Amino acid sequence: MNKHNIIRGCWQLATGHSQVEAQMEPILDAINCGFTTFDCADIYLGVEELLGKALRAASTQKLRIHTKFVPDLDCLQAIDYRYVESIINRSLTRLHVDCLDLVQFHWWDWRIKNYLPTLEYLFQLKAKGKIAQIGLTNVNTQYLEEISGHFDIASLQVQVSLFDRRIEQGVANLCKQKNIKIFAYGSLLGGFVNEKWLYKKEPEIDQLVNRSLVKYKLLIDAACGWQEFQLRLSMLSELAKKYHCDVANIAVAALLQSAKVDAIIIGLSPQNFAFQNRSLEHLPRIEASDLQLITTWPCNLHGDIYEEERDEHRAHAKIMKYNLNAQ
Ligand SMILES: NC(=O)c1ccc[n+]([C@@H]2O[C@H](COP(=O)([O-])OP(=O)(O)OC[C@H]3O[C@@H](n4cnc5c(N)ncnc54)[C@H](OP(=O)(O)O)[C@@H]3O)[C@@H](O)[C@H]2O)c1
Repeated sequence: MNKHNIIRGCWQLATGHSQVEAQMEPILDAINCGFTTFDCADIYLGVEELLGKALRAASTQKLRIHTKFVPDLDCLQAIDYRYVESIINRSLTRLHVDCLDLVQFHWWDWRIKNYLPTLEYLFQLKAKGKIAQIGLTNVNTQYLEEISGHFDIASLQVQVSLFDRRIEQGVANLCKQKNIKIFAYGSLLGGFVNEKWLYKKEPEIDQLVNRSLVKYKLLIDAACGWQEFQLRLSMLSELAKKYHCDVANIAVAALLQSAKVDAIIIGLSPQNFAFQNRSLEHLPRIEASDLQLITTWPCNLHGDIYEEERDEHRAHAKIMKYNLNAQ
């Protein structure tokens, strides 16, 4: 494994993500296993603080923390420099650093046109030395074209998996042209890409034990449906046997080999981290014919990047929490 291509995602450690109380152990264990980059957000409750503690506990290591700036939906209309600076200052304090390595900008509603001035405020804070690099998350081709025409964008974080190929609609090419790195999330469908879900009856949403599983069950419904998901999971399971690894490793290796993304963000499980941190060390090299089989599955998701999720008439928009920064 090239550990620079795997970023450990920490949404799974946020308060309210599941019933499991957030701890530092998964992060420290990942650092011990050689992972150096962690993804978080201003709105992942408690996570910037946990990472700040982990940074101090592992102070001899060179670590990178990618956070996000996700202004509350209720604030977008009236957003100003003071609001942006207060959120960035809070991330600096929580992480105990003088400069944030990467801040990824998210905007809930493109109909509210303040996004360019808001990005300008972030770039002013970069000029002041509070931020090293600015990236984006969940931006489609149209807005990526517009924003990258005005600003020097380092990276784009988007959902990409064997089940979600929306980056192929334009974002992947645009990022290549503009030298913007792509960081993929959702590659394991929040834990559904696992033998433990093979041959399982379709779960009810309210039986699922964490927010990722809820998010990705809706994704499965929209992308292919549970029956087709089971067929695909059984194909991954066959490949896992052939390559002597588990299905998660097939999914991660396939995405990295297909070279559409620069790194994959894999969620750090609050419970199963010890095995999972180590198993990621053994990614197989998948033969081209097998790769072709699993990287060309049809994807029925609506529209370009994050359009399925933004559409207020679809299921996904109803489960999102739009005002977490106020908490
Ligand atoms: N920008 C955005 O809007 C956005 C949205 C979502 C996530 N993210 C970022 O992306 C990260 C990834 O989150 P995600 O929700 O997309 O989840 P994911 O990475 O698709 O799935 C994470 C889950 O996969 C399982 N897993 C992890 N490593 C494994 C391994 N080696 N083998 C088998 N299973 C493994 C664990 O499930 P179990 O706990 O069941 O074992 C873990 O909780 C988040 O932490 C966050 O940083 C960003």
